[in-house]
Amino acid sequence: MAEADASAISVGPIGVFDSGYGGLTILRDLRKILPDYDYLYLGDNARAPYGSRSFEVIYRYTLEAVKELFARGCPLVILACNTASAKALRSIQQKDLPNIDPTRRVLGVIRPTVEILNDVSGSGHVGVLGTPGTVASESYVIEATKLFPDMKVSQQECPLWVPIVENSEADGDGADYFVKKYIDAIMNKDPEIDTLVLACTHYPLLIDKIRKYAPENVRILSQGNLVAESLKDYLHRHPEMECRLSKGGGIEFLTSENPDKFDSLASVFTHHPVKSRRCALD
Ligand code: DGL
Repeated sequence: MAEADASAISVGPIGVFDSGYGGLTILRDLRKILPDYDYLYLGDNARAPYGSRSFEVIYRYTLEAVKELFARGCPLVILACNTASAKALRSIQQKDLPNIDPTRRVLGVIRPTVEILNDVSGSGHVGVLGTPGTVASESYVIEATKLFPDMKVSQQECPLWVPIVENSEADGDGADYFVKKYIDAIMNKDPEIDTLVLACTHYPLLIDKIRKYAPENVRILSQGNLVAESLKDYLHRHPEMECRLSKGGGIEFLTSENPDKFDSLASVFTHHPVKSRRCALD
């Protein structure tokens, strides 16, 4: 009883979780659109990439991260990772949250992205670029055809894009080969695609090269803005959660890897110096 009361009144930052650096692309837009809140970012860089791992492993890693962010006072956690959203979100929401703390919330990035697809695609032919885990889960296809039964959704896994980003090679010449390879592959599956969804939060780091190799008429959709607008709407509709979020515009970074290593690449995304702390996850 005492525990339930304590959790009901606790105030804390919004937790933002990703397997590594990719969630920083979401965090950037969260802070732009919802600047008043405090944020606590956690990157599981030591165990990234998640994309080729099994359901069980992704679920276990993601649950560990969510528990860590809860333990550090976050009433709300955003899984700023498609792979974790696809493979772990539902189980955590339905199976774990009721036992851990039913007053806290964990939200993902897939639903807010899918919801706007009908508005942005004129042809109704959409391509989804994601990790092997996200593609295998079929989450985008299932969600999109539930909302828009006539929509044609093609998928392409891009297993090398996350390692390229995590190893600071996004701007390197070697990245071009693998960007072109996967763009060509998805456009060959359906030449009528007019919208490509970057269904992995790491991929905006490759956006210049993706634009270079995608046909000119194809729109490239990143998620940051969509997720931030969706959260804004959620907080309007859920004042009981909104009042539990601390407001000071602060940001802290945690990584399961070496903090110096994290800081040097993270600052490229945030355009500010980053000073992270190590956080063991297991
Ligand atoms: N940023 C994650 C996603 O959105 C990364 C995946 C990975 O670690 O492979 O899917």
